[in-house]
Amino acid sequence: MSKLYRFGISLEKPLIDAFDKHIRKQNYQNRSEAIRDLIRNELVQKQWKEGGIVAGVIVMNYNHHKRELVSRMLDIQHDFQGLIISTQHIHLTHHDCLEIIATKGKASEIGDLASRLKALIGVKHVNLSITSVGDDGHGH
Ligand code: NI
Repeated sequence: MSKLYRFGISLEKPLIDAFDKHIRKQNYQNRSEAIRDLIRNELVQKQWKEGGIVAGVIVMNYNHHKRELVSRMLDIQHDFQGLIISTQHIHLTHHDCLEIIATKGKASEIGDLASRLKALIGVKHVNLSITSVGDDGHGH
């Protein structure tokens, strides 16, 4: 853990009341923890907008019986092989598969990969989640 710094924040009463209510619902232990997450989110958004390197996870749900779907999906994954760190495939039901694709690279390229996968016929749902790669004060 890196060194912790303290600083004071002045807020209007209605704003801090609303914030406290919000963070209680999110199960934060204290304001510091909640504010740290807000700052990290802001920095991840900034990296995303500026084309910095981020980590992303694509979660997709598809019907593997759809003709050509699996081979098309693999062709796309090979087109982005420099971006993909690992994939995990889970057989959900007789028809449905869950694929989890971990990536690291430019957010715009990760977004392109997710869009191409989403456009395949037989894909039911694609979700993309982006996080930082760690150079933003996580302290590891
Ligand atoms: Ni499967």
